[in-house]
Amino acid sequence: MNKNWCVVESGYDVNNHYKNETIFAVSNGFIGSRATFEEGYDGDMDKTIEGNFINGFYESEVIKYGEKGYGFPDVSQTMLNVPNAKGFEIYINHERCNIFTGNITDYKRVLDLKRGLVTRSYIWSKNALSVYVEIEKFASMTHKNKLALRLKVKPITPCEVKVISFIESKVQNDTPRTNARIDYGPYEPVLLEVKRNRLEMIHRTKHTGFDLITHLHHSLEGEYFEEDDRIGEIFYGHEITLDKVISYHASTDEDLSKLNRKDFSYDELKQAHLSYYQDFWNHADVSIEGDDDLQIGMRFNMFHLLQATGRDGKTSVGAKGLTGEGYEGHAFWDTEMYALPFFLYTKPEIAKSLLEFRYHTLDQARDRAKVMAVDGALYPWRTINGEEASPYFPAGTAQYHINADIAFAVWRYFEVTGDMDFMKIMGTEILVETARFWFSYGDYIDTKDGKFCINGVTGPDEYTAIVNNNFYTNSLAKENLINACKSLDLLAEEERTLLQNKLDISESEPSKWLHAADNMYIGYNKEKGLYPQDDAFFDKAKWDIENTPKEKFPLLDNYHPLMIYNKQVSKQADIVLAIFLLEEKFDLETIKKHYDYYEAVTVHESSLSFCIHSILASHIGYHDQAYDYFMKSARLDLDDVHNNTHAGIHMANLAGTWMCIVNGFGGMKIKQGNLHLDPVLPEKWDAYAFTMSFKGTTFKVTVKDQVSFEYLEGPGLDVHLYGKKVRIEC
Ligand code: BGC
Repeated sequence: MNKNWCVVESGYDVNNHYKNETIFAVSNGFIGSRATFEEGYDGDMDKTIEGNFINGFYESEVIKYGEKGYGFPDVSQTMLNVPNAKGFEIYINHERCNIFTGNITDYKRVLDLKRGLVTRSYIWSKNALSVYVEIEKFASMTHKNKLALRLKVKPITPCEVKVISFIESKVQNDTPRTNARIDYGPYEPVLLEVKRNRLEMIHRTKHTGFDLITHLHHSLEGEYFEEDDRIGEIFYGHEITLDKVISYHASTDEDLSKLNRKDFSYDELKQAHLSYYQDFWNHADVSIEGDDDLQIGMRFNMFHLLQATGRDGKTSVGAKGLTGEGYEGHAFWDTEMYALPFFLYTKPEIAKSLLEFRYHTLDQARDRAKVMAVDGALYPWRTINGEEASPYFPAGTAQYHINADIAFAVWRYFEVTGDMDFMKIMGTEILVETARFWFSYGDYIDTKDGKFCINGVTGPDEYTAIVNNNFYTNSLAKENLINACKSLDLLAEEERTLLQNKLDISESEPSKWLHAADNMYIGYNKEKGLYPQDDAFFDKAKWDIENTPKEKFPLLDNYHPLMIYNKQVSKQADIVLAIFLLEEKFDLETIKKHYDYYEAVTVHESSLSFCIHSILASHIGYHDQAYDYFMKSARLDLDDVHNNTHAGIHMANLAGTWMCIVNGFGGMKIKQGNLHLDPVLPEKWDAYAFTMSFKGTTFKVTVKDQVSFEYLEGPGLDVHLYGKKVRIEC
């Protein structure tokens, strides 16, 4: 076991139980499975938050509002807890064996990040009986429908072993912090199909009418049984090694009538899975010399980010990945502004599939724009299926910046990959429809010198709602409008004509977008020499952060939203994020001034905040602060900094730590389509290295006393290192 690649739990501690169900969860972007104990809890299921999820598979409920307004979403979307096929019961000479029923020694759980495997093992003893139990598990990275487990029960003293392995359909959601709780068993069993060594259940959701096939294949022949909500097989022996290969197939993903059932052996799947991980780390690893805890934190974050993310163009990535029910499994802007950059530079095909998801849900966004009586398309603030699912509009639908975020990601994707095929249809359509939204939603306002204003929005800072001219929103909307025009210009004449006809773009329309962009209102306060976060931000008193009692944080849990909106206080990076994204446009002094001001009014009550502050602090030479913020981000889930890791990992933050290293300490920036690096070495480290790709060239950057590059693959590339051109090639 390589200590820099493994998260280890060496001894069971009930206090870490729920957190560790998240930490040791396995997923593959499609299936997610919390690290509950497969062999059960001696009937005491209170000790677990069982969770098996399928990306994109959800149930809907009518949302109950106190007062419902026009355009509020009617129904919820809740990622469902699907039938559990992992379970088994172990009996040693008729005694139930699990970690609560005997004397446990040598307990160990290892999450092997390098190989994508979780192994849990222990020695169980009772009444002079003793056995070794080991369970290895992974969610296949190469066969997205498959989850595989290998159970070994090895007697230490002679005994009879019995294993009952099953699929259980009695599952329920336990959605925290939502008003759309699905607290009933959401399935109608439509069919139970049973074959020898081959167990299958088919279920249909009550409201959405989706079908799900749960299929279990055992490596051994057992005795079939069927009871209440379970079907399974029973195995007997003196020593048992049993492989369980579980397949989930959902009608949200494929046509189930055409399903081609193919069984793979555990070893076949494992082999392919290990190769996938090897390739992933060859393209994505970040190493840190001089701090082992951080090293693990970094790799853990990248591992979980990869696990969390849909890769089929039909699904996105939830704010909690597939590790818990927090946020009901919804995807937010976290996808484009946090997760996507990581993939863009390590596995660009995944970045593309995330954008394809947005393309495939463009029609829902067009429909939403119609509901809102605006042109173009309006993407949902939170969603699974592409429709808006945000019931609280001030910190939901009003975050129209989601449109500009997606547009920003489309353009960045093009800059970094040069993928013209994607731009020809998908990229350009997204840019055009989102630009249309801004042009239609914004207005030229007399009292603002006739400038183009975007009023009545919420920016990224959810503690300042429904404001006029949020700096972040206006700045990114401006880019959106410009890049829509640029993308049309990229097209060959014939392609452009085709698209103009398809989207009904008149000759004069792009020039209107440009005019709005050129005249975009960006407020400036001369006295302070600062851009205000929005028109009214400086007119409010500052929240007295220092004298607010500790127990009153997080503010939203302790104050009515209006009391928070009434003051100058930011939940998370807002203007600081805009400056990071558009850094080329600002000089160092301006960046510093804005960082100083806004950092002081930010409470970081979103895990999306630390990393952005770390990056900008790094760029302005605030190295201690950069490091402090990085530390807060790097082990946020491993150390349960927000005390809510049990509800799922903080997906955006996982990606944020990668940005801290590569964009922050590594100083990676794109300027006029070129790659720039200005690395600094944090004092506490001996060295660090990261691997990344740009325009098809993959290379490793090592930062020690000096910076060195190692070419790995691709056509070769010019990189600007501290402003000087360096060629990386074979
Ligand atoms: C943040 C949002 C974020 C959401 C999901 C909220 O607390 O304020 O910016 O999109 O969490 O991660």
